[in-house]
Amino acid sequence: MSNIKRFFKMMMKYRKEHLIAIVLLTINGITYSMEPFFTKSIIDVVIPQKNVVELLKLTGMFLTVIIIEKVSKLFSDFVYSEMGKSFTFQLKRDLISHLQKQSGDYYCKMKAGEINNIINNDVDTLEDIATKMLFTTIKDIITSVPIIVYLFILKKDLFLVLLLIYPITYFVQKKFSKKIEYYSIQARIVLEDYVTIINEFLKSPINYVKLGNNTYFKNKFKESEEKYKKYGIKSDKVYSEYITLSTMTNYIVLLAILLIGGYGIIENNMTIGIMVVFIQYSSKMVIPILAISQANVRIKQSKESVDRIFQILDSRSSISEELAASQCGINNGEILIQGVSFSYDTREILHNLTMLAKAGEKVAIVGESGSGKSTIINLLYRLWDFKEGNIYIDGVEIHRFNINYLREKIGIVSQDIFLFHDTILNNLTLGNADISMEQVIEVAKKVNIYNDIVNLDLGFNTVIGDNGVKLSGGQKQRLSIARTILKNNPIIVFDEATSALDNHTEMEIEFHLLDYFKNKTLIIISHRLKSIVNANRIYVLENGMIKESGTYDELIQSKSLFCSIFNLQF
Ligand SMILES: Nc1ncnc2c1ncn2[C@@H]1O[C@H](COP(=O)(O)OP(=O)(O)O)[C@@H](O)[C@H]1O
Ligand SMILES: [Mg+2]
Repeated sequence: MSNIKRFFKMMMKYRKEHLIAIVLLTINGITYSMEPFFTKSIIDVVIPQKNVVELLKLTGMFLTVIIIEKVSKLFSDFVYSEMGKSFTFQLKRDLISHLQKQSGDYYCKMKAGEINNIINNDVDTLEDIATKMLFTTIKDIITSVPIIVYLFILKKDLFLVLLLIYPITYFVQKKFSKKIEYYSIQARIVLEDYVTIINEFLKSPINYVKLGNNTYFKNKFKESEEKYKKYGIKSDKVYSEYITLSTMTNYIVLLAILLIGGYGIIENNMTIGIMVVFIQYSSKMVIPILAISQANVRIKQSKESVDRIFQILDSRSSISEELAASQCGINNGEILIQGVSFSYDTREILHNLTMLAKAGEKVAIVGESGSGKSTIINLLYRLWDFKEGNIYIDGVEIHRFNINYLREKIGIVSQDIFLFHDTILNNLTLGNADISMEQVIEVAKKVNIYNDIVNLDLGFNTVIGDNGVKLSGGQKQRLSIARTILKNNPIIVFDEATSALDNHTEMEIEFHLLDYFKNKTLIIISHRLKSIVNANRIYVLENGMIKESGTYDELIQSKSLFCSIFNLQF
């Protein structure tokens, strides 16, 4: 099934709304096609008769018809607007939830500008097509037919002359719409790059400023701006030319009516009423061809948008989700990594890695930067799939868990902290209404952030700005620790999560959390000796291989890699 067909099928969910709108538009069409009859009767019959009563009666009837026509249009617009919004919002939600399921690979490759364009521009373009376009086109054609027939009966020769002029208008339009389409597609492609650059800047304007007066963005902006300008201006120009030409043709039609009609009136074989009706309604003569060709162009244009949208909706995550997802839950949180090798692309990063974290244990991973520590967590969280070896949680292969379920059970506090432009409270609970204020306060106290929060003007209701600009690095880290703790996952990972904290704060937090960590499996990746000394087991990683493992005491006995990483001399 083509994507356009699938798209129209999607809209059919709004069958009831479509039906109501069709009834309203039918009423609108019928009343509209009655209009020329009133104009002609008033000018040609009632006025010459000087019949005021009849004039009042006819204008009154005309008014009623107009009111019915306008009101039915108004209500059909309401129906379509509501339908359109609910359709586009749903589609945007679907797209985002699809994107959330993608693999780490996908996130690394995707261009923010492109996604932005699809979610905003493409979806919005489709709103109209998904709602009113189809039936409005049909209605326009059907209602124009009686008017066209009426015009033909009123004055055949004038009708035939116009019938020659209108096709010219049509061909001009067609030629231009092709040109406009070409340039708008080009403009769109360059716009994507432009938006990506702006997004990059907007991600963290404050950090951009801190880079100093650099020309990197300025140059990039300029380059992409030039390109965008080129196509943007060209497409605006073509559009203006098109508008000028099509208004010109309108005048040509008017002049033809004045000339031929005027001659007819002088020669007494036509009435003023007929001329007025022609001036007002002759444009309906092209409606059938115009409506069809415009709808055709719109559908063609939207085909690209539809294709892009389905490309996201159809993209299967490279993370496999086995149908027979395990019924066993994750309760204890024992993690066994067995013989795992992994590469992001061609270079192997992890080599035959085996490690164990028993339920409730605290296990540390240490190693030089780039040795593959975070990669292990990426695999555990299933951001990437590995091909060799296995990871088990509570004895079940992690591939067998539903992916959302698995991720719910693992709390990660990482070095990169993600905070929303929202209140501290919402950043802590992430909208989970089951978390009580008492719990929030208790955890905030445990991670030593409570006093910082209550000292802010609005306390927990303080909005912290984009990615928490109003907070210090250490405060952000403590918030992110508190957030993870509130999630209450059986497995918790600290990936260099305390780097911005001073030794004292870190120790204190850990001490406060001892009770909480008692029945959780804890994986700590840290460069601080203090946070790993009391681990049940420490794994020392070098170039993706485990070089040593054991308790702190065992490792310092061996006087090897571990000691050199921490500069321990004995
Ligand atoms: N998305 C990725 N694509 C390709 N290579 C990556 C990706 N992420 C990390 N790497 C590479 O994998 C290696 C290990 O990275 P990482 O696990 O982040 O190290 P660590 O956390 O120990 O500092 C590094 O050489 C890094 O360049
Ligand atoms: Mg890392």
